[in-house]
Amino acid sequence: MCGIVGYIGKQRASAILLEGLKRLEYRGYDSAGVALLDDSGIEVMKKTGRVENVATIVNRRNSTAQIGISHTRWATHGGVTDANAHPHLSWDGRISIVHNGVIENHDALRRFLKGEGIEFVSQTDTEVLANLIAYHYARESLEGEGATRLIAAVRHSLRLIEGTYGIAVICTELPKDIVGARKGSPLCLGIGNGENLLASDVAAFVGRTQNVVYLDDGQICHLTADDFSITTVNEAEESVDPVISQIDWKIEQAELGAFTHYMEKEIFEQPMALENAMRGRFSDDESTSKFGGLNLDAREFRHVDRIVFLACGTAWHACLVAEYLIEKYARIPVEVEYASEFRYRNAPLDKNTLVFVISQSGETLDTLEALREAKRKGYRVLGITNGVGSTIARETDGGVYQHAGPEIGVASTKAFTSQVLIGGMLALHLGRMRDLSFSDGREMVKAFRSLPGLVSQVLGQAEQIKEIASRYTDYEDFLFLGRQSMFPIALEGALKLKEISYIHAEGYPAAEMKHGPIALISEKCPSVVLSPHGDTFSKVLSNIQETRARKGRVIAITSAGKDFPEEGADDVIHIPHAHDCVMPILATIPLQLLAYYIAVNRECDVDKPRNLAKSVTVE
Ligand code: F6R
Repeated sequence: MCGIVGYIGKQRASAILLEGLKRLEYRGYDSAGVALLDDSGIEVMKKTGRVENVATIVNRRNSTAQIGISHTRWATHGGVTDANAHPHLSWDGRISIVHNGVIENHDALRRFLKGEGIEFVSQTDTEVLANLIAYHYARESLEGEGATRLIAAVRHSLRLIEGTYGIAVICTELPKDIVGARKGSPLCLGIGNGENLLASDVAAFVGRTQNVVYLDDGQICHLTADDFSITTVNEAEESVDPVISQIDWKIEQAELGAFTHYMEKEIFEQPMALENAMRGRFSDDESTSKFGGLNLDAREFRHVDRIVFLACGTAWHACLVAEYLIEKYARIPVEVEYASEFRYRNAPLDKNTLVFVISQSGETLDTLEALREAKRKGYRVLGITNGVGSTIARETDGGVYQHAGPEIGVASTKAFTSQVLIGGMLALHLGRMRDLSFSDGREMVKAFRSLPGLVSQVLGQAEQIKEIASRYTDYEDFLFLGRQSMFPIALEGALKLKEISYIHAEGYPAAEMKHGPIALISEKCPSVVLSPHGDTFSKVLSNIQETRARKGRVIAITSAGKDFPEEGADDVIHIPHAHDCVMPILATIPLQLLAYYIAVNRECDVDKPRNLAKSVTVE
């Protein structure tokens, strides 16, 4: 949510900043801006709308500046206007900053600064911070010269701030220095050769360097072209020994290639993402799964008598599937909580409860705060995340990396199915420590191993699904129905459709329909019904009949090679009939494709749906 990029080196900063912003645009696309610093001072260029809008201005300017900061915004404080776009300049023109996060006490600070005669030109909390830093920098009592003075001014200001921030700061008098800091909003340093970068996400600089240092909360960094250092914001002002890690993916993986949208690309990458989630994670005898990163030994695992999953959005749906699978195969009670609700509840947990957080980005603030709350209460918290080196990865007591590769489309697809798979493998692992037999374990491993191939088969029906989508493009309401582990898939199908096509859609357990939602059914409200063969197949078929009797059109997702009544639905999509533990994943694929093609037909901006941003780093 909001993307920051800073560059200092020997190249033209503008091109590198714009490239970085394009790679971070998924984090917010209300406005974008660049501040460049050269001998003549700081020049700020910013514009509402996409990065390409400001790029036109920046490219026309053709600056040779070798240092700059930039930002792509998801608006929090202040409307979407040019004035509210970042970077912000202090009243005296000396300091420019970009900021990701929310400054909660901005009103009080603004009043104080106004009392000191400082005027404001925007409604943002960020301009308050720009002015506060400039105010401290200008004070005679502040000690130090050059970069030391700027760092001191930033440090002083941050100690007065309540809220969250990831910031990058430049100063007219310091054309060779960038200062950054974080608390609650991600920030990492790209360590290059004769150049250094600062960004909210490695995606901004992975094309220039694979070396990254992740900043922790409460740290300030200082970058020059050839060096960097990190200290703490607190009174102790300790210097921090940086750990340089390697980014585990290459820039080519984030290219669109032959695809039109990232969402489409990521849907089609699922066989590989699933393969990666399984790699090295089955026992030699193929009867169970193993997760070295969880840091739990067999005895500790055996003593778990309750699992609580915390997550948001699509990741929360993955937790709901995991709940079904773990209860079914491991017989351990599972609860799934919205991370944002858990944090403010007095949820009673007992000592044998294991808490899991699931997050694609590893940076979602609601999930992060829920994780911190669980840890404060003394629980061991484990994570499932795609964000290698992310804050959640670093703050959990152990975890499982998804290795799904970068997910850039705002609507999560391959990260979801990979989370569901890891949830299923966890069910297997826990089950094998309890009642699940060796042969049942082997059956499950076989089913997981077959997934990439089966998912490819479903993807092979993309043309048919596209054709079906063309008949459903103009509806404004949809119901998604499913039972048991298909219920969370119905929720996920509804979420995918609504977020990228702006069609109102709701997911329900199929049997719940008759308790209320059936009132919505008419020729104007089609239903997508998940009806693979299994225990509740005949009951779901009845729901389909009830829907059609009320003139509601039905798209049924059912098992290939099994009976489905002829003329039972208006449109039928077949998915391979496989082991129960993989059916939720197979059923997800047609729903993703359906949502994608409907959104494309409606000419929606599939990868950047309105009002949304990937990686929600505000509460
Ligand atoms: C929907 C979607 C969101 C995210 C949610 C959590 O397609 O992507 O609902 O799932 O914001 O994000 P992560 O998984 O990064 O914590």
